[in-house]
Amino acid sequence: MLEYLVLYHSESGNTKKIAATIFSHLPGTSKDLIDITTDKTIPEARVYFIGFCVHRGSCSMLVSDFLSGLSGKQIALFGTCGMGNSPAYYSSIEHSVSVWIESDNEYLGAFICQGKMPQKVRQKYESIRTARNALQISLCLRNFDEALTHPDSLDLEHSKVFTEKTLKKIQAED
Ligand SMILES: Cc1cc2nc3c(=O)[nH]c(=O)nc-3n(C[C@H](O)[C@H](O)[C@H](O)COP(=O)(O)O)c2cc1C
Repeated sequence: MLEYLVLYHSESGNTKKIAATIFSHLPGTSKDLIDITTDKTIPEARVYFIGFCVHRGSCSMLVSDFLSGLSGKQIALFGTCGMGNSPAYYSSIEHSVSVWIESDNEYLGAFICQGKMPQKVRQKYESIRTARNALQISLCLRNFDEALTHPDSLDLEHSKVFTEKTLKKIQAED
């Protein structure tokens, strides 16, 4: 059995960048980095870092099904979403994904950051702009433009810090 498995679902590559950063900061060689959409058999591990792209406020069923099948494991989550700088929203995402973790696992916490969105999202905002929603739409457009550079080097640094803190938590318990 592996010590660490980083397993992720990333449709446009943002979450994959965080996954690669987390993986690179895990010690030793008993570890693997796997895209959940792979055809390969997913190896078993002691500690899981499970990543997801946020769609409609939560993770995909691929991720929730995998999470709910785990038992007796140590599990950390990570994810990227279009919304930036919103701790309350990040907490709601963490909650909606972590509910899939059965109570006989140990939940180690989550890291969530902003990720760029496809251009069609910007076009959608523009197409639904009216006099009444103009302010709301301009905030959405500003958030969209800010997301374009994410995950950036600071997000990757924060994911490294999250990994180190998670490893310390695991060591303190061993
Ligand atoms: C169909 C779809 C639904 C999305 N829903 C949300 C959402 O509910 N909240 C949010 O903040 N971002 C949402 N996003 C933006 C993505 O979460 C964001 O771009 C993320 O970084 C994509 O990760 P990936 O590149 O790993 O696939 C959505 C994007 C798509 C394409």
